[in-house]
Amino acid sequence: MMNLEQTIAPKILVVGQGAREHALLHALSQSPQHPQLLVAPGNAGCETLAILVPIAVTDVPALVDFAVSQGVTFVVVGPEAPLSLGLVDALAEKDIPAFGPSQACATLESSKFFAKQCMGQASVPTAHYAYCQTETEGFTALETIGKPPYVVKEDGLAAGKGVTIASTLEEAKIAIQQAMEKAMPVVIESFLEGVELSLFAICDGVHAVPLPPAQDFKRVGDDDAGLNTGGMGAYSPVYFADEALVSAVQTKVLVPMLKTMAERGTPFHGLLYVGLMVHPHQPETLNVVEFNVRFGDPETQVVLPLLTAENVDVLALLQASASTGALANLFPQWVASGYRPSQLSWFCKSSNQARPSAVTVVMASQGYPEAYPTGNAISLPDLNSLEAGVIIYHAGTQKSAEGALLSAGGRVLSVTALAENLPQARRKAYGAIEAIDFPTGFNRTDIALKACLVE
Ligand code: AMP
Ligand code: GLY
Repeated sequence: MMNLEQTIAPKILVVGQGAREHALLHALSQSPQHPQLLVAPGNAGCETLAILVPIAVTDVPALVDFAVSQGVTFVVVGPEAPLSLGLVDALAEKDIPAFGPSQACATLESSKFFAKQCMGQASVPTAHYAYCQTETEGFTALETIGKPPYVVKEDGLAAGKGVTIASTLEEAKIAIQQAMEKAMPVVIESFLEGVELSLFAICDGVHAVPLPPAQDFKRVGDDDAGLNTGGMGAYSPVYFADEALVSAVQTKVLVPMLKTMAERGTPFHGLLYVGLMVHPHQPETLNVVEFNVRFGDPETQVVLPLLTAENVDVLALLQASASTGALANLFPQWVASGYRPSQLSWFCKSSNQARPSAVTVVMASQGYPEAYPTGNAISLPDLNSLEAGVIIYHAGTQKSAEGALLSAGGRVLSVTALAENLPQARRKAYGAIEAIDFPTGFNRTDIALKACLVE
């Protein structure tokens, strides 16, 4: 008898509209399950991969109704907002599985205090902190820390804003006062030295599978000058994130966090984004700076091409995260006790050594991350003329009535290249940027530069 399950293509709805979601669609489109893809709301770049559905990411009832009425078999949630609003819980009520955590687990990202409490319960290494609801409590906490820099974090969803690294006591006090004026409690932390690293782990409530480590460039200008942004570029793998470091994250962070979340009655499914502060090649010094509960942007644009280059079925990986313990059946070698990195060649000692690497450079609208114009013309090269391994992911783009490509957001494109080593990937990504005509756009010129100089 014919097995219907094998013949019906899964119908997948991706929620989101950035380059992260374009990269997700691109990876899902390569699945041997040949899924039918939909995206709400998507962007101009997603058109060739998926049907665009004009529903906002925060309109949970409309997303659920759409998924039910269209027979969607699996939903992949990109951004944080719908997770915080309980999209995954609402879909579960209709028996539609989804990639992403419950509303309760999404609080790990939306509340710094909640994240700190869970880290405390799980004995995860992180900066010392005080939770302060009044100005007096805040000022006392600063005295306890004693010397600058001071880290003051507003306890609410802030999309990368709301964190002040104060180099003087006065600056720290102002940040506390400003938060209190908004009736926003603060978490005050000691300052961690080191370099930042993003590690994504796909979690099924019990197990965690770490993906290739990535580094994100958060400041708007070269040499990390200027304002914080959502991220201006990324590369992966990272030369100092060796086996020992990833293994230490597994033992000290992922395993205890999953155990703690399960013990609290809210097992973690989806992606746990571990923002780390580390010292190169010293795994014992790692500290967690933050948790996010979804794929990072722009890191996803480098992590996913590395997985698909190794023929990983990304759809199967995301689907497995939704059912408790399923990763152990589907990816046993990745979740066996202790981490087994030999599955993918992510680790090596120098950046020039052959090892698949990816670099992405964000092209943004002039003015970003502050006010910027939209509706400006972008001309892309013929995609067939691009070097092998180059992919232009769209973020804030739209098509005019005449079909012309226009900017529609702060971050507009995420120009990505995959190559057999990091310097080549970097050269290819910047080569593709040269071929893009976006007169009102700009990009950093130093993405992955330092990493390429490490011998
Ligand atoms: P968060 O939103 O908690 O990730 O903080 C935003 C950024 O502030 C991080 O990416 C770090 O660059 C920086 N940061 C946050 N907490 C600390 C800390 N305790 N020590 C040093 N830098 C920090
Ligand atoms: N790249 C940082 C973030 O996605 O939050």
